[in-house]
Amino acid sequence: RRAPLLAPSFLAADLANLQAETERLAESAADWLHFDVMDGRFVPNISFGLPVLQAVARHAKQPLDVHLMIEEPQQYLSAFRDAGASIITVHIEACPHLHRVVQQIKQLGCKAGVALNPHTPVAMLEDIAAELDVVLLMSVNPGFGGQAFIPNTLKKVAMLKELLVDAGSDALIEIDGGVSLDNAGPLVEAGADVLVAGNFVFSAPAGPVATLARLRDHLA
Ligand code: DX5
Ligand code: ZN
Repeated sequence: RRAPLLAPSFLAADLANLQAETERLAESAADWLHFDVMDGRFVPNISFGLPVLQAVARHAKQPLDVHLMIEEPQQYLSAFRDAGASIITVHIEACPHLHRVVQQIKQLGCKAGVALNPHTPVAMLEDIAAELDVVLLMSVNPGFGGQAFIPNTLKKVAMLKELLVDAGSDALIEIDGGVSLDNAGPLVEAGADVLVAGNFVFSAPAGPVATLARLRDHLA
């Protein structure tokens, strides 16, 4: 098995010190920086958006992995690209014309990701899998950090892996929500390529840099 990419989530960072947070992550084992955008419509919470991404991008060394938990994401794709996004992930539940949205993301020069809520079957991706760079499986209900990992996700990772192989897709499997040392090993074993971690990384007494190193070493 390959070492997964690690993507700490800014949602759990010290939001009053984003420059310092971004700079210390620059020297860490983080491969991507995960940026959770919530609109208070698609999910029952509001986080941060374009101007904050732009501010973070000025200090970021790693690619910005933007997770859009918003309705009508197609309206904001070029704005997020311009603000610094490298990867743009939209929710399948928010996109009746998902194929078009994926093409638009790729035309902007970004990697295209599709996220699935915990209840959405991976089979929904059968006819789009070959077009995708990333599939994000939510392992909690989106909207909040610090929730408990939903164990059914492990089965979904294995099923998604099979679906991607059958479709000839090299999309990366990204897991988001409740990821920690308790489940990271089995997730990677099942086929996960990217692990998002918020609370586990930022709330640890050792701090994010040491905790990311610990996670990386645990999975080595
Ligand atoms: C939840 C977000 C996640 C969140 C993960 O809606 O999409 O990215 O920040 O946080 P933890 O790791 O604390 O569950
Ligand atoms: Zn996220």
